Amino acid sequence: MSSSPASANTERTASLRLMAGGSLGGTVRVPGDKSISHRALLFGAIAEGETIIEGLLPAEDPLSTAACLRAMGVDISPIERGLPVHVQGVGLDGFQEPADILDCGNSGTTMRLMLGLLAGRRGRHMVLTGDESLRRRPMRRVVAPLAEMGAKITGREGGNLAPLAIQGTALQGTTIQTAVASAQVKSALLLAALTAEGPTTVIEPAHSRDHSERMLRAFGADLRVAGPNGTHVTVNPGAILQGQTVVVPGDISSAAFWLVAAAITPGAELTIENVGLNPSRTGILEVLKSMGARIEVINNRDVAGEPVGDLKVNHGPLTAFHIGGDLIPRLVDEIPVLAVAACCAQGISRVEDAEELRVKETDRLAVMARQLGAMGARIKEQPGGLTIEGGVKLRGTTLDSETDHRVAMSLAVAALVAEGDSTLQQAEAAAVSYPGFWDDLTRLRT
Ligand code: S3P
Repeated sequence: MSSSPASANTERTASLRLMAGGSLGGTVRVPGDKSISHRALLFGAIAEGETIIEGLLPAEDPLSTAACLRAMGVDISPIERGLPVHVQGVGLDGFQEPADILDCGNSGTTMRLMLGLLAGRRGRHMVLTGDESLRRRPMRRVVAPLAEMGAKITGREGGNLAPLAIQGTALQGTTIQTAVASAQVKSALLLAALTAEGPTTVIEPAHSRDHSERMLRAFGADLRVAGPNGTHVTVNPGAILQGQTVVVPGDISSAAFWLVAAAITPGAELTIENVGLNPSRTGILEVLKSMGARIEVINNRDVAGEPVGDLKVNHGPLTAFHIGGDLIPRLVDEIPVLAVAACCAQGISRVEDAEELRVKETDRLAVMARQLGAMGARIKEQPGGLTIEGGVKLRGTTLDSETDHRVAMSLAVAALVAEGDSTLQQAEAAAVSYPGFWDDLTRLRT
């Protein structure tokens, strides 16, 4: 690699040389789980007393959440790798009205959860915005059900697009059936429910990640989970949240890049330590194992209410996969790197029911089809998925993350097994969720 991009804010156009060939070996600890990191900051902010967060992800997305909270008077200690983060909670209704707009950066989780958290802050006015990508992403999925609870939120396209203005007001508990299985939507509604009048039940079409349910309960919220596969969640308002110590496990969505990289790179053998293995996130392991990948889960343990383990993965032959339905929410962020695995598997792989990928940080179906296509992959895009014919050797070329962190890292994995080197433009995007990714890649190469 010719350069090491430091930060997406300072080096918007960092381009990186990615060498093909060689292998991978050793041990890696991926940074803290992004979803759990956001929640620990947010729930710590609305609790009484201090919350201590160990292993918080020190990346751009959680920094956006912390910056928004600080702008509303929450004292959060500096966020640096290896340092526990201290959050001094202000209580359920203790936010000050911010003096300026709140910038959520690239982070959909920040904006959507913040909408739910702020909608019920009576008498206060708040405006949320974000970067170019976030200002294109649909917010009606949160704004419309919040409006059913009485929220007053306005924005472009009838409240669908940021900047969004929130006039905090009293909310009414209700029962809401969400249209998509989205943990961001569910979590926004659960946060709004904490101070609504009467109970709120959120019913999802399929089970999405349940970190909010687990952590809210640990903080003392009155929350019940019922229904088929935990798809009905009810919050009774009134409970006081108490500050906690939260231990954030490594992010399985970051581990996914190493799982696929080792599975497809001849001679590779990697151990990924301290990975969160919440069943609502482990779809990637099931799919890779069904492809014949040599993955072993060791040292299974429970850390602060979340299952954790170490993953050992070795190179081996892979066969195609077919995924869709209720599995999609359990691996929604891993589909870009699974597309890379599919390129190296025998047979035709299919991804279905994945329309949600079109409204992530980028349209990930289009971007992966375009970028892997440029490498010679036989990849076709459908409205809700991808078809990938594996076993065709990829060739190194000029690639572009198109500003998407998961695309950047997925393409880095593809470049490892290509014929000839590649150049990756906008490589700095990786810092949104995995600031040390390029250093880890250099270190693990053998
Ligand atoms: C997240 C939920 C997922 C995921 C995102 C993080 C969360 O989004 O794609 O990266 O922390 O709740 P949706 O649940 O909206 O699909």
